[in-house]
Amino acid sequence: MRVEKDIEKAGFYQYYPVVPAVVVVKSGDELDALACAWHTALSFEPPLFAVAISPKRYSCKMLKQNGEFTANFLTFDNIGIIAAVGRTSGREMDKFSTYRIKTIPSTEIQTPVLKDSYAAYECRVVKRYTLGDHVLFVGEILAVHYKERCFDKKKKTPRLNSVTPALYLGADYYAGIQSFGEVRVSKEDVMGKVMGRRERKNNKE
Ligand SMILES: Cc1cc2nc3c(=O)[nH]c(=O)nc-3n(C[C@H](O)[C@H](O)[C@H](O)COP(=O)(O)O)c2cc1C
Repeated sequence: MRVEKDIEKAGFYQYYPVVPAVVVVKSGDELDALACAWHTALSFEPPLFAVAISPKRYSCKMLKQNGEFTANFLTFDNIGIIAAVGRTSGREMDKFSTYRIKTIPSTEIQTPVLKDSYAAYECRVVKRYTLGDHVLFVGEILAVHYKERCFDKKKKTPRLNSVTPALYLGADYYAGIQSFGEVRVSKEDVMGKVMGRRERKNNKE
């Protein structure tokens, strides 16, 4: 295993692939969207979802002003939208008219969700931290949008035979995933194996 101290030399993609979010922000009548690979869920109660955005992004200023965003998840078919909003700036164009990105209204905030998303969160910013060269916006999730056919009714998990989330590999490369089928490994399965091993060991002794 190679060890590298310089993250730039190593590339910061070891923990990828990630499902990038298209983050939509609104300030006054102006809308902007950016691709965001650096996001994470933080809490169930209250439900918190955070996005790390560089202050260099036009959307960062808008988000500081308005304090709400939607995080939208797209399928592999829509990597064109992710790349478009992720490689151009709202400083230079209206991305929504330029790329013909369709939106639908949110229910709890003014900022819309993307029509083409298979899932999206409506978030209100409750905390903001500057961490190194990015700003972490912590949003409370006020509503969840999801296409029901893309998620298992009972388990609530994504159904990979109905939805192909876009995966970002880094450096402008994307992939889709082909499911080899689902495998459930529960605590009982794990404990069963541990107990079985112990029993076999005890029997030997
Ligand atoms: C797939 C992908 C993921 C990205 N992830 C992030 C991210 O997590 N944080 C960030 O600040 N910029 C990220 N970017 C870069 C912004 O999306 C990009 O700079 C965008 O043009 C900013 O638009 P704006 O100036 O309209 O805000 C990413 C770009 C791509 C293509």
